[in-house]
Amino acid sequence: MNVDGKPHRTIWLNDDGWSVEIIDQTILPHRFETVTLRTVEDAARAIEDMLVRGAPLIGATAAYGVCLAMHEDAGDGSLQRALDRLIKTRPTAVNLRWALDEMRTLLHNRAPEDREALAYARAAEICDDDVEISKAIGSHGLALIEAVAADKADGDPVNVLTHCNAGWLATVDWGTATAPVYLAHEKGIPVHVWVDETRPRNQGAALTAWELGKHGVPHTLIADNAGGHLMQRGLVDLCIVGTDRTTASGDVANKIGTYLKALAARDNDVPFYVALPSTTIDWTLTDGFDIPIEQRSGEELSHLTGRTEAGEVVRVEVSAPGAPIRNDAFDVTPARLVSGLITERGIAEASRQGLAALFPDRTS
Ligand code: MRU
Repeated sequence: MNVDGKPHRTIWLNDDGWSVEIIDQTILPHRFETVTLRTVEDAARAIEDMLVRGAPLIGATAAYGVCLAMHEDAGDGSLQRALDRLIKTRPTAVNLRWALDEMRTLLHNRAPEDREALAYARAAEICDDDVEISKAIGSHGLALIEAVAADKADGDPVNVLTHCNAGWLATVDWGTATAPVYLAHEKGIPVHVWVDETRPRNQGAALTAWELGKHGVPHTLIADNAGGHLMQRGLVDLCIVGTDRTTASGDVANKIGTYLKALAARDNDVPFYVALPSTTIDWTLTDGFDIPIEQRSGEELSHLTGRTEAGEVVRVEVSAPGAPIRNDAFDVTPARLVSGLITERGIAEASRQGLAALFPDRTS
């Protein structure tokens, strides 16, 4: 998507042919800077410290992490160490496990001298596929926006509410929840996005509002607690969010607070859709409560980073010093609250049968 008129992806190979460039998402929206990954440890830290985040981008970065390990040392020990290090970075997004399984299957019984080239080719393919998958999600989701637009008075926008950042910054490009919005915008359909701030890390305020603004999509930032109120007043036509892991029966784990939005949507008859690449489906799980929920540092609640009027970026404490804190990074929305799963193959009912009908090749 565009940043100041220039198209960008979130991850790419540098001209040296081996090091990997990412956008540092921890300093957005205050500065747009890129960081070079040169080792598997760089890739692991980028995921852990959330320079990159969002399920599909975590997977793509992990794939390149394996490449960086193979560039340094393509032996069996190095491959195993890379896989072991990367899988420990973040527990909830299943794209991480998927990407590492892809790399392991490809490389483990190949000669060390072949591994580096094979790894880089597969990582590039994972990135290119992710872009195509996001675009396909976009075209299926676009039909939902078009259907709402058809019932609107001329010029009235379709109001979409989203939580966290399931935008292009969370994928390689386009995003999942945002892909239908970007396509609608490109088609000239009036569309407006309510952007949940998404405490504690503020992915909505810092990332979703930034990327929509840079691409010129109308949007309004709202407090996390405002969504239900706006739904009660008929100001939300549909919700579209992302997911870090979807069970084979259609339960979804996404950024903390998603479940409350789904409850409010159900109470107000607002359709609640979840957009996902099939790499986010964990076919081994049927119960959403078996999805591991990442526990993160309490400092994400007690402290905030922001820019002063003088332009300095500072970190301040906002809670009572020493207050005990619990910081679950994700919650589970049961399938019964999900109107549909927007995938690259179409929109599935959020159920075992719905997913199996679209992905008969993955379910056995
Ligand atoms: O903790 P984050 O910022 O990695 O969480 C991201 C989300 O919850 C996204 O909604 C999810 O990964 C889907 S990204 C297309």
